[in-house]
Amino acid sequence: MASEAATTPENIKERLKASYDAVASKYNEWTLPHSKKRMEYLSKALEYLNLPAEPEKNPAFLELGCGCGLPVTQKLLETHPSARVIANDLSTTQISIARENLITNPEDEVAQRLELIPGDMSALTFPNESLDLVVAFYSIIHLPRTEQTALLERITKWLKPGGYFVANFSAKESENAVREQWLDDKDWMFWSGWGQEKTLEAMKKAGFEVLVAKVETDAVDGVSFLWTVAKR
Ligand SMILES: C[S@@+](CC[C@H](N)C(=O)[O-])C[C@H]1O[C@@H](n2cnc3c(N)ncnc32)[C@H](O)[C@@H]1O
Repeated sequence: MASEAATTPENIKERLKASYDAVASKYNEWTLPHSKKRMEYLSKALEYLNLPAEPEKNPAFLELGCGCGLPVTQKLLETHPSARVIANDLSTTQISIARENLITNPEDEVAQRLELIPGDMSALTFPNESLDLVVAFYSIIHLPRTEQTALLERITKWLKPGGYFVANFSAKESENAVREQWLDDKDWMFWSGWGQEKTLEAMKKAGFEVLVAKVETDAVDGVSFLWTVAKR
């Protein structure tokens, strides 16, 4: 069980990076069999996006907290033959695993279309109106919630008008949920969230039209998340 810390712990990003670096393989093994919901919501967003098949379309997709790149980043690469996919993660170990999972041959066209960016999603910058779709599954929940609000505002700016955002958030409000050990004895964890109502308010305030908003409980550990698809 997570406990609520009185204040936001220091060095969250460094500590989360160290934890996900240490637990990457174990996390991937634990989570991969439960990818159905991620793929279901990604499909909903892709249906809304309804990309034309022409190769010259060159859509740009961004995934925040891509983990090992399976199955979500892989699906983004397969979605359109000219899609440029930018996948970011704080954990350099996860970025290395994603590179191994997604690029079988560095000469391959996939390697030309995929950009893997290690580091904090809160530090990313993109030109305004440059992205067609932003995806974030189980990742924004690791940002302090004031950073979540700021990120939502930046994502709306990065998206082209009519672009989409698909993500999940903590369903319950909690500012500083901490666990000394999560899947392993080496993985200190931090989560934060505004809860269902305030997250949806923040999305609308950032300029999104929320198309899908549903609280669903994960079978693997019984934790509930708010799943959203939104349009800029
Ligand atoms: C629970 S995992 C989810 C991974 C993948 N999206 C999935 O659904 O399996 C959370 C991921 O977010 C990454 N992460 C945590 N904080 C981050 C941050 N500030 N910026 C970028 N990635 C972050 C972690 O390294 C980890 O890979």
